[in-house]
Amino acid sequence: MSEIYAVIGGSGLYGLDQDFRVESSQKPNTPYGDVSSDLIVGEMRGCRTVFLTRHGESHHIPPHKINYRANLWALHELEVSHIIAVNAVGGIDYGPHSLVLPDQIIDYTSDRCHTFFDGEASEVGHIDFSLPYSQSLREKIISAGQAQGIDLITHGTYGCTNGPRLETSAEIQKMQSDGCHIIGMTGMPEAALARELDIEYAAITMVVNWCSGITGSVLDLDEIRQILDSGMDTVIQLISATLAQADR
Ligand code: HPA
Repeated sequence: MSEIYAVIGGSGLYGLDQDFRVESSQKPNTPYGDVSSDLIVGEMRGCRTVFLTRHGESHHIPPHKINYRANLWALHELEVSHIIAVNAVGGIDYGPHSLVLPDQIIDYTSDRCHTFFDGEASEVGHIDFSLPYSQSLREKIISAGQAQGIDLITHGTYGCTNGPRLETSAEIQKMQSDGCHIIGMTGMPEAALARELDIEYAAITMVVNWCSGITGSVLDLDEIRQILDSGMDTVIQLISATLAQADR
């Protein structure tokens, strides 16, 4: 069966490049409410592709207010088979500009609508989430990165906090001893909802700052913006090369 890819853009990624031939734009109603942004549907490198930006077109939706269920449901309705999520993160073990493909998650969020199995369906549903990211999709991204000469860190545990505030230094120390390598605010429940819908899901994360207390320096928001601006072209190049290998 031909694969349909979705790209969920995070901070700094509000569209793809000229390889994305846009055919339509839609904002569907879902049983879970409104999606974050228009779903842009088209073709990229011969692959049917949908683009959605998680924080909204004008970056107005904070991490804890994103309607993850509506976003994932809308992609499921479009029969999306694979999702490449893009997330900006802080680094505990990896420094600014690193691109990390996490392979594990620790979820520190609370009060987010985190499941489709919330008692309304006839049966209680459980998913296996021991490996939270699709290994086959990760391998496709890794091989696209190798072919393009893009440096990727291919292992890492993503700690997901509620935000929108950043962490205290003590919280980062605790997360480091828990085994986290990178920290972000949007990785969950997105990954789990994708698994509930049986969609292959992997994340490309870009480290935009050292986490609190790691280097002793204070967070510089202008620097974060510059890192996002300078790194997104590489992320799009990586996505484009991955889509070029999709089954069609
Ligand atoms: N912590 C949590 N989320 C983030 C960070 C951080 O340091 N940087 C970018 N997203």
